[in-house]
Amino acid sequence: MEGWRKPPVGAWLEVVSDYDERHIPVLREHVLELLAPVAGDVVLDLTVGLGGHARMLAEAIGSEGVMIGLDVDAGNLATARQRLGDAPCRVVLERENFTQFDDVLSTHDVDRVDVLLADLGVSSLQLDDAERGFSFRREGPLDMRLDPDSEKKAVDLVNAMREDALSDLIYFNSQERFSRRIAKRICQVRREGRITTTTQLAEVVCSALGVRADSHKSKTHPATRVFQAFRIAVNDELGALETMLKKAPDYLNPGGRIGVIAFHSLEDGLVKRDFRQRRNDGVYDVVTKRPVIAGPEEREINRRSRSAKLRVARRCDEEGK
Ligand SMILES: C[S@@+](CC[C@H](N)C(=O)[O-])C[C@H]1O[C@@H](n2cnc3c(N)ncnc32)[C@H](O)[C@@H]1O
Repeated sequence: MEGWRKPPVGAWLEVVSDYDERHIPVLREHVLELLAPVAGDVVLDLTVGLGGHARMLAEAIGSEGVMIGLDVDAGNLATARQRLGDAPCRVVLERENFTQFDDVLSTHDVDRVDVLLADLGVSSLQLDDAERGFSFRREGPLDMRLDPDSEKKAVDLVNAMREDALSDLIYFNSQERFSRRIAKRICQVRREGRITTTTQLAEVVCSALGVRADSHKSKTHPATRVFQAFRIAVNDELGALETMLKKAPDYLNPGGRIGVIAFHSLEDGLVKRDFRQRRNDGVYDVVTKRPVIAGPEEREINRRSRSAKLRVARRCDEEGK
């Protein structure tokens, strides 16, 4: 592809190899190769999380580069701060929703960036923390907020929404085909008392489907899609992604790269359609004709990588080049 630079893959991968094994950044070789950061680049990591990708990209942009990282989760941001403490570049970390990334850029007098990365969803630390309520495998409050300061929790939706609205929420956010049956069961159970924990909700789903949770050990847990649906709703994840995708081209330098790692088809579909539309409008070159997925080795060592899909596009200049 014209204007494409040889990717500087290699040494920087070592930087994350000794990193906290609880969080291995997904598709890291592909992120480096396709986002191709070079010395002096300005990188915006919209979901800095535990700083895995950010640290790797920071090494690549060197002392002349700038790394700007955002996250809504103060705990993750603190880990990223530590992780990037001795990074070679200038580092700016802000607790902010990525829908507001333009405000952060303007606060720091940055007009445009060269690399923009969004690794969507939850980090493994958030998933593993029972108190955050993301996991049906761990007993915890039905919370599911990525930003612990936001108001709406999963418990509020589960216990207050009407049956038809619950059914729609589950269907549209996860394509769960038994959404009606599950919504009906939720409403029956909550008449007896509020559903307040993750394991309670998981049991309600299993009973609606007439299955036992432990009968699905090797396959996907029956409540997986329902948990995804509530998490998406609590955090307005699809709305946030749409807002970010809409703003992105105005903040990318010509030749700049945007990469989005999605973990389910609703997210990936939004990214795919956005990139395709902008390619047709002469705004982006789509670098990944198909989404990039993890190879067998990565899938083996990092469970989360199994559903990861990376798409990358390159910002064209005014003449569409
Ligand atoms: C999958 S993790 C990112 C991991 C990171 N790439 C790394 O290597 O450590 C996703 C992170 O995005 C954050 N996040 C999700 N939605 C967000 C949003 N709309 N704005 C800002 N941060 C968000 C989550 O809190 C989480 O820390």
